[in-house]
Order: sequence, then C-alpha cells, then structure tokens
Amino acid sequence: MIYNTGRMDKEKELKKVADEIRECRLCKKWGTGEPVPGEGSADADVVFIGEAPGKEEAKTGRPFVGRSGRLLRSMISEIGLETEEVFITSPVKYLPLRGTPSRENILHAREHLLKQLSVIGPQIVVLLGNVACLALLDRKVEITKEHGTSVRKGGRTYFITCHPAYALRFPKGKEGLREDLGKLAQQIMKTSPR
Ligand code: URA
Repeated sequence: MIYNTGRMDKEKELKKVADEIRECRLCKKWGTGEPVPGEGSADADVVFIGEAPGKEEAKTGRPFVGRSGRLLRSMISEIGLETEEVFITSPVKYLPLRGTPSRENILHAREHLLKQLSVIGPQIVVLLGNVACLALLDRKVEITKEHGTSVRKGGRTYFITCHPAYALRFPKGKEGLREDLGKLAQQIMKTSPR
C-alpha cells in the first residue's frame, strides 16, 4: 500500500518504484537500452504521460530528451510551468523492440505507472496520445475528436491531447497541441491558482 504523504516520503517511494522498474524482467523482455522510469517532482500537480522511450531516451535513461521531448519541454515552459515542478514519464519504460509497444507490454508496464501516480497524487494527468489513453482510460480514444477535453476516472482528472511526435509530423498537430496546452494552463489556474 502506498500512502500519499509528505514530499520527502514521496521521493523515497518514487525511487522505490523506479528501482522496481529497473529490476522488472517483464519490462526488459519487451524492450532494449536503459530503463526510463521518468523524472520531475515527486509532488507534482501535473504529470505528462507519453508512449514509450525513443532512441535518445534509451541511451540516457531520461524521458523526453529527443526531438519530440524538446518540443514538449518547450511547450511546458510556454504555459509557465517549470519542467522540474511537473513529472514526465511514459506507460512503457523501455524502447520497444519493434517500434510501437504491444498491448501486452502496455498493460503490464502501466502497473508501474499506476504506482507512480498513486505516490505523486497529481491534480491533472496529461495523456499525450493513444498509448497513454489506452493505458489509463482503458479505451481507444480518437485523439482528433477528444483532444483538449478532460475526463474524470477513478477519482483522477485526465486531460487528452496528442503526442508531440504527431505534432512534429503535422503543422496542424503542433497548433492543436499548443492550443490544448493553453486550455490545460487555464484549467490548472482554476484548480490550483498560484
Ligand atoms: N516519447 C515518449 O512517449 N516518451 C519518451 O520518454 C520519449 C519519447
């Protein structure tokens, strides 16, 4: 049982989950390179969830440090958040052997993600694309229809938007991601004004 407690306790608990991820044989079976548990504040109000590490992430063990990561990180600062005050991770913790992660891999790896969320206890969880939605909403989401909206499930608030890799591929996707994150900023101001 993980309790939602003080910041120091949360850091310790989050490290424990990261160690479990590093030691998980099943996660390793489906992936390659360094494990990427995630990084940021153990006490974050906002958690960003991607898909799976790419090559840069698998080299460094850090989430979102490649091209799409740079876009995501710059958009996070554009809405006035510091990357150190949010938490950034993915449902899948290793670079998948065959490009996109299998459903089996996602459903297993989300157990680690759910533990991370239960330690952090964020106000809003941002779902970046289909894999994040499948892992946490348990359904296939049409991002083009549902992006920019939030959903309540199991006592948590989820905000749906596209993956930054999609935004890099399509100019419309980039505009959409920027607009969505603008809406997210407004929602954050309403729930926890500074
Ligand atoms: N894309 C993701 O979904 N996650 C990462 O960590 C990096 C790229």
